[in-house]
Amino acid sequence: MGHYGNFNDELKKRTEKAEEVIRRWLPEETGFAKTMAEAMNYSMCAGGKRLRPILLLETCRLFGGDEALAEPFMAAIEMIHTHSLIHDDLPAIDNDDYRRGRLTTHKVYGEAMGVLSGVCLLNYAYETMFRAFSMAPGDGRVLKAVKIMAEKTGIRGMLGGQSVDVENDGKPITKDMLDYIYQHKTSALIEAAMMAGAVLAGADERQTSLVEEAALNIGLAFQIRDDILDVTSTSQELGKPVRSDEKNNKVTYVTLLGIEEASRQVAGLSEKALSALSGLNKKNEFLTDLIREMVSRRK
Ligand code: IPE
Ligand code: IPE
Ligand code: MG
Ligand code: MG
Ligand code: MG
Repeated sequence: MGHYGNFNDELKKRTEKAEEVIRRWLPEETGFAKTMAEAMNYSMCAGGKRLRPILLLETCRLFGGDEALAEPFMAAIEMIHTHSLIHDDLPAIDNDDYRRGRLTTHKVYGEAMGVLSGVCLLNYAYETMFRAFSMAPGDGRVLKAVKIMAEKTGIRGMLGGQSVDVENDGKPITKDMLDYIYQHKTSALIEAAMMAGAVLAGADERQTSLVEEAALNIGLAFQIRDDILDVTSTSQELGKPVRSDEKNNKVTYVTLLGIEEASRQVAGLSEKALSALSGLNKKNEFLTDLIREMVSRRK
């Protein structure tokens, strides 16, 4: 893979960097609200793949941006994502007991603390992003990036998708509605990551919209691959339960199209993403390799 050395070594380096950045921005476990800080950090430090912060930084690098300014946003996108997972696993939503190879937050800290620590991570993401303003006073790019993060997370983004997802558990839904769900519950945060990275590096509107198009397709491919792994992998390998979708009677790409056709769509969407990025006439070989590798990811 690539001309710069082994892809897995390069991915490991980036994952370690993301890990270090994330840990630097976490809340301290002190004071009366210590238990909630522990619950927030429990899930943040459980070692996910860190794909969103990596995509944010690599898109920032694609445009030659300032990496220090990207760091609070890397931590923030992982906080928003982790909040979505803590809440996604709650009994009221997917009711899953394992995540990132450990018991879920509500299993360890109780349901009330699962709700509170999840929403507090979402809030902490904004506290973290606001600190970027003092790193670049008067710089409009920071405001633009925060706005993207907010819009891609809320009702027109990830949370909108999650709401339609849970509302339709066990119901037959159309392909259009399923695509709406995937574009929102999953693509929106990947769009936020990559667009924020681009905007912080000074990308213009045309460039940012190509990045958005790439991220949309990466997100769809990512969620369809997640559906496939839900029926083909093991909880050991995934670090979360398998057959969760079946348990919740969900319509997925796998139930609609079967594993083979779903896999073909993952590959096709990934090609679409690469072709959108190629319209930028800029090069980040690690980023394109990462997008290719995600098609066949095992976890
Ligand atoms: C899981 O995301 C939720 C989906 C959108 C399918 P990841 O697969 O990126 O989870 P972590 O962060 O590696 O745990
Ligand atoms: C979750 O989709 C997407 C978000 C949490 C926003 P899933 O419910 O399929 O994710 P997993 O499989 O639990 O990680
Ligand atoms: Mg879910
Ligand atoms: Mg789930
Ligand atoms: Mg899933």
